[in-house]
Amino acid sequence: MSGYVLAIDQGTTSTRAIVFDDAFRIVGVGQQEFVQHFPRSGWVEHDPEDIWASVLATIRTALADASLSAADIAAIGITNQRETTLLWDRGTGKAVHNAIVWQDRRTAEFCRNLVADGAEAMVTDKTGLIIDPYFSGTKLRWLLDNVEGARARAEAGKLAFGTVDTFLLWRLTGGKVHATDATNASRTMLFDISANCWDEDLLKLLGIPSAVLPDVRDCAADFGMTDPGLFGVSIPILGMAGDQHAATVGQACFRPGMLKSTYGTGCFAVLNTGTEKVASTNRLLTTIAYRLDGVTTYALEGSIFMAGASVQWLRDGLKLMDRADRSGPMAAEADDAQDVYLVPAFTGLGAPWWDAEARGAMFGLTRSTGPNEIARAALEAVCYQTADLLDAMRRDWTANGDTVLRVDGGMVASDWTLQRLADLLAAPVDRPVVLETTALGAAWLAGHKAGVWPGMDGFSDRWRLEKRFEPAMDAVTRGRKLSGWSDAVKRTLTRN
Ligand code: G3P
Repeated sequence: MSGYVLAIDQGTTSTRAIVFDDAFRIVGVGQQEFVQHFPRSGWVEHDPEDIWASVLATIRTALADASLSAADIAAIGITNQRETTLLWDRGTGKAVHNAIVWQDRRTAEFCRNLVADGAEAMVTDKTGLIIDPYFSGTKLRWLLDNVEGARARAEAGKLAFGTVDTFLLWRLTGGKVHATDATNASRTMLFDISANCWDEDLLKLLGIPSAVLPDVRDCAADFGMTDPGLFGVSIPILGMAGDQHAATVGQACFRPGMLKSTYGTGCFAVLNTGTEKVASTNRLLTTIAYRLDGVTTYALEGSIFMAGASVQWLRDGLKLMDRADRSGPMAAEADDAQDVYLVPAFTGLGAPWWDAEARGAMFGLTRSTGPNEIARAALEAVCYQTADLLDAMRRDWTANGDTVLRVDGGMVASDWTLQRLADLLAAPVDRPVVLETTALGAAWLAGHKAGVWPGMDGFSDRWRLEKRFEPAMDAVTRGRKLSGWSDAVKRTLTRN
């Protein structure tokens, strides 16, 4: 059997399909952006048909780019934007509403009421999450309550719920398989991450009928075969994980203490804590890193909503630059004497603050502040927020872990950003040779399940460093900058 594996990486703003060979080299790529819908302030939706069309198109492009046909592909791995919520008709496969995207805040009030009713301790204990509109459960409830007839049809077993992975699997298998994996399930606020099953108390709390739920499988498992009508032949789907979990796998963060951070639309730092489920006392999330052969590996996760999205705002909103990759060189030119801070709370603040009502702010502006200082403030904000997350992780998990951070995602192409990150963390930052770690992780799950790629040890051994960034900033400057950031955040929060 060939060693070619196809990864589908369905992200928040674009879909990518990547074909890897058995040396983990990229041999074919398809990428497509799709439309974002903002029907009201704080609401974010995707058209499920756009997502599906982009998946089909990118797979075909990736195969053509690799000069391969579907028959050459040993297995498919799916990875995806997490939490984004879909509900569809089991008969027609059509969604009853647009997908409600993870960034969407429409259920903020419902979440506030749940907290006020004292539900958070039970939710956190079972799911490892805090109560926030970010997760799928309250979005699903909103669909059941607001789409006419949805609740009755759901109770009658006519509708299926899923995050994007599940929806794609349903479509790829021609409606034959309704399943997800443990990592995606762990982000719904409906899944008990210790018992590894959907939880009756949580379903009751949110009013979700169990008839809508998918089957939950390991990340490397038999997820069915693609419908032969789609690509000519059937391809086995053998891997699935939410994108941050797939990136953790792709970075080979398999040992407890290993840590990765992915800089895409947002930034997500994940610390492997092994088979120990660590409860955070610093408002981080406890999540399933991956589940393989029925064994769950846990992680602590810090989620920041704005990373690359802040740079996009500089480019498209403020028009300070024509290309996002200009931000690093502009930051390098900024005046060292000015301490400008941007708190990018455009859709509230994520971990460890969790303030849905906070909005963005800038501090330290003078008459000499210009585009360069603002670009630097946006890039530094990503570094400061990573420092906040790592600080919370160190307090939550005192076992001696690595102090090295493995990074990936679009923003890590910038040397300036990674040097500043190492400086502000006072820790080394490692950039790997393969930056498509999310897709690589999904491909590894499928490829090793298919028996055409090596197991965990063989895969880890082949992780390659491209460049290490060592901290070089003096302690006084670092202390001044971190304390300026902390002051800026305090002035932005709506509650203390
Ligand atoms: O939790 C949301 C996350 O999975 C989205 O990732 O890369 O699509 O911004 P990304």
